[in-house]
Amino acid sequence: MAISRDRYSTVAIILHWTIALLILSNIGIAWYFNTLHGSAKIEPVQLHKSIGITVLVLSTLRLAWRLAVPAPKLPAYVTGWEKWLAQAVQVGFYVIMFGMPLSGWALSSASPLIHVFPIVLFHAIPWPAIGPLTTLPHDQMKQAHDAFTAAHGLLAKLAYALVALHVGGALKHQFISNDDVVARMIPFLPRRMTKEMAE
Ligand code: HEM
Repeated sequence: MAISRDRYSTVAIILHWTIALLILSNIGIAWYFNTLHGSAKIEPVQLHKSIGITVLVLSTLRLAWRLAVPAPKLPAYVTGWEKWLAQAVQVGFYVIMFGMPLSGWALSSASPLIHVFPIVLFHAIPWPAIGPLTTLPHDQMKQAHDAFTAAHGLLAKLAYALVALHVGGALKHQFISNDDVVARMIPFLPRRMTKEMAE
């Protein structure tokens, strides 16, 4: 008989919460620097870039880990639209985890400012710009910058919707379905007997 995992691995749990925290922090920092002007923006934007690139690196590890160690299955009673929505939200998060950092990296690279303020992760580790974008003729660079900025903003809106659905789903499992779906990602939550186990 095959043994099925009923919770995420420790590595997956650590990566999930670290990436979640970094993405939420980066959204908060973006909201904050959007209220600033001129040179006051420089430091928070540079921190935002450092955190965003860290998300890109960690998301690559997370994807590799996910391919190597598959996620535990949802309880068998989760079917139909609920199962479809859960899977769509997970795919959406991977789009965010890669799309936000890549579009941010691209919009920063397609800016004349990249030569003045290169990306240096946490003031310590130089990170390259995307070469071809830094040498575009002025008009094309502006077009590319505007397109990547629009994509970055759109992905942010997708992220807000996904966070709402994800947290809503977690609350529903925890307090309405009363199952162990959330405990698979929060090790210290007490385990309950799921409907599946009871059958
Ligand atoms: C976890 C990854 C990231 C998240 C969640 C994120 C989120 C955001 C959000 C919410 C905004 C404000 C968008 C708006 O006002 O419409 C923003 C703006 C910005 N982001 Fe990111 N970002 C991420 C990664 C990056 C990376 C890796 C870079 C660059 C290396 C970057 C560079 C920027 C810049 C320069 C802006 C300001 C754009 C402007 O208004 O001119 N971001 N980001």
